[in-house]
Amino acid sequence: MVNENNRIRVAVQKSGRLSEESLRLLTNCGIRLRPQKEELICQSDNFPLDLLRVRDDDIPGLIADGSCDFGIIGTNVLQEKSLQNGEKSRITHEIIEYLGFALCRLSISVPKNFPYQDIRCLEKCRIATSYPHLLSLFLKQYKLNIKITTLTGSVEIAPRLGIAEGICDLVSTGATLEANNLREVETIFKSQAVLIKSPNLLNPEKKIVSDFLQNKIKQFKKTNKTMS
Ligand code: PRP
Ligand code: ZN
Repeated sequence: MVNENNRIRVAVQKSGRLSEESLRLLTNCGIRLRPQKEELICQSDNFPLDLLRVRDDDIPGLIADGSCDFGIIGTNVLQEKSLQNGEKSRITHEIIEYLGFALCRLSISVPKNFPYQDIRCLEKCRIATSYPHLLSLFLKQYKLNIKITTLTGSVEIAPRLGIAEGICDLVSTGATLEANNLREVETIFKSQAVLIKSPNLLNPEKKIVSDFLQNKIKQFKKTNKTMS
């Protein structure tokens, strides 16, 4: 499905660490949006823009196939999906601006009672993660015998379930690790929100709106001190 009408479509995370700041960014650019809680598509009434509220993991695909023109996504998901689609050489998105919010890191963590000294301690271990490609890329340099177990959620319970010795998951405040008696031992990727654009060619009318939006966001980022 390609978006044929003249309204710009922007995909943002429905609920999670990116959602609030993504909406705030658009609102601060002067775009009036009043998304109801359960509403998945929301039309701006002062700008030819529709907001799509979706799962963050779906955003790179929606941008790649042109269903949406812009997306606000964490570089963690973007990079994982890019590595996953590695062989396909076509351009799937254009990075417009790093936004400096939703900061978090992808880290390897182990139970607090694991006698961890360095990465070699993980030899013959299993690591559970929702980011198998990023983890595999990181581990490649060490040439260790480590098994990656892919889970789509609740990764932090894997050691207690006995299905992995360690995990590789996002850490922000560290509260999830603490609550599960885990200790962060290696940071493998630092993530932040980024504005991406579909590689599909825009019709002239949409291009004007798109350029305007991009400039607004760049301008806002420059003048807003809370964003790095
Ligand atoms: C991540 C991760 C942890 C949590 C860590 O999930 O899976 O559950 O955040 O954050 P903390 O260190 O502040 O406790 P999240 O729901 O943000 O990511 P996802 O839904 O995109 O997988
Ligand atoms: Zn997600």
